[in-house]
Amino acid sequence: MWWRDAVLYQIYVRSFADANGDGHGDLPGIRAKLAYLEWLGVDATWLTPINPSPNADWGYDVSDFHGVHPDYGTLDDVDALVADAAARGIKVVLDLVPNHTSSEHPWFSDPAKRDWYVWADEPNNWTSTFGGSAWTKQPETGRYYLHNFLPEQPDLNWWNDDVRKEFEETLHFWFDRGIAGFRIDVAHALVKDRELRDNPVVGKARDPREERVYNMNRPEVHEIYRDWRAIARAYDPERLLLGETWVSNLAELAKYYGDDDELQLPMVLSLTLAHFDAAELREIVEGAEQTFPEGTVPAWCGSNHDIVRFPTRWCGGDEAKIRCALLILLGLRGTPILYYGDELGMEQVAVPEDEQLDVAHSRDGARTPMPWGARPDGSWWIRHGDLTRNVEDMRADETSTLWFTKRLLELRRAEPELRSGSYASVDGDPSIWTWRRGDAWAVAVNLSDRPRAVKGLQGTIRLDTGLVRTGEDATGKLRLGPWEGAVVGD
Ligand code: GLC
Repeated sequence: MWWRDAVLYQIYVRSFADANGDGHGDLPGIRAKLAYLEWLGVDATWLTPINPSPNADWGYDVSDFHGVHPDYGTLDDVDALVADAAARGIKVVLDLVPNHTSSEHPWFSDPAKRDWYVWADEPNNWTSTFGGSAWTKQPETGRYYLHNFLPEQPDLNWWNDDVRKEFEETLHFWFDRGIAGFRIDVAHALVKDRELRDNPVVGKARDPREERVYNMNRPEVHEIYRDWRAIARAYDPERLLLGETWVSNLAELAKYYGDDDELQLPMVLSLTLAHFDAAELREIVEGAEQTFPEGTVPAWCGSNHDIVRFPTRWCGGDEAKIRCALLILLGLRGTPILYYGDELGMEQVAVPEDEQLDVAHSRDGARTPMPWGARPDGSWWIRHGDLTRNVEDMRADETSTLWFTKRLLELRRAEPELRSGSYASVDGDPSIWTWRRGDAWAVAVNLSDRPRAVKGLQGTIRLDTGLVRTGEDATGKLRLGPWEGAVVGD
């Protein structure tokens, strides 16, 4: 149950650390930065896909599920990374992409494996997440194949038992190598309606909207995770199944925990769609607290490789707001997932149109190289952003956001109630979001432009977003400046 107490750290492998200077990150690069991750205080890393891929969707179009992309290294490099990380108390979680393969995966051109993919004589009305019809005609067969994403990413047919067996073997293959678990790509979408029924279209005629009810979140997907959890459970320590679950209805999302026999951590991604507003964020958190089954932990994140980084999206680059956001993510009950650079307040980068490499055109700016120093460390596959917030300078400055994150992680490690104590909201001024953790702790964040106060807390400030108020008595009344937050304990 290690994931209940853990802080995860997502690494976009292509942009994290480049050991051989060829312009993109690799596994030896990550190995060389393990000392940094240990210093920061994270418990596990999740690496974006490392498998061979033609990169139509930057690794999310896999052509060999048991291999390593030559840009990143070899299986030996994986083993070395897992061993070195373990020596520092860090686990390595990989990314599994079971919804689809690359169109260059040998399965897709193998006539004996036709039924491994989803085919129709005529397209239904489903559209691809990246736009346009979700169906492309294949000249050889004259039939249409389904792709919820790019035409280069044909969807697998999860009604086929051979597909299921194949992925169960893939789980064993990596779990046997000591991988701590998988983040499962579009975990809610594997199974499609068996009859391929049209999705309902709602809204006005001029602005129709497809409700993706037949190609996403089908009830039968849960059976797959029951099988996978049984596999994960047979390992010691139990392997983690972390779901990319874009399911905004919390009751539906809760089903991915099953009866503690499916995913241990289905991500609550709807948090990233909320504004940086105390009432909106609180509603989602309290909804999850009330809806998720007893004994489960919610998985929170603010950024990832598909969305605008939270220091920009929520905080407009404002340092005080960024620290409030970090305090929320790391102070809630749950397993937080930091995206590389979040600990620095790394911002979204405006990548000019003629430099954009991503099919969805909006995601490059969240995937820029990790700023290790004030000057670019070589020439990368994608441009650097502003390097003002960089590891070297921020590590040398104990008042920096990086140190704030480190201190917060230290406190979490030291205090069991900050890791697993219950969450209980404290009523009061709605723009200060205050919650108790366990019996002795509270977190308060003022998400407003005015000074505010919280009454009724007990203890002293153990950490504040400005790193200047430690030890101050907070009993009775805690005053917080605009965009200031604090952890109070005894
Ligand atoms: C997930 C990934 C995203 C990818 C898509 C298709 O949403 O996070 O990067 O484009 O799946 O695999």
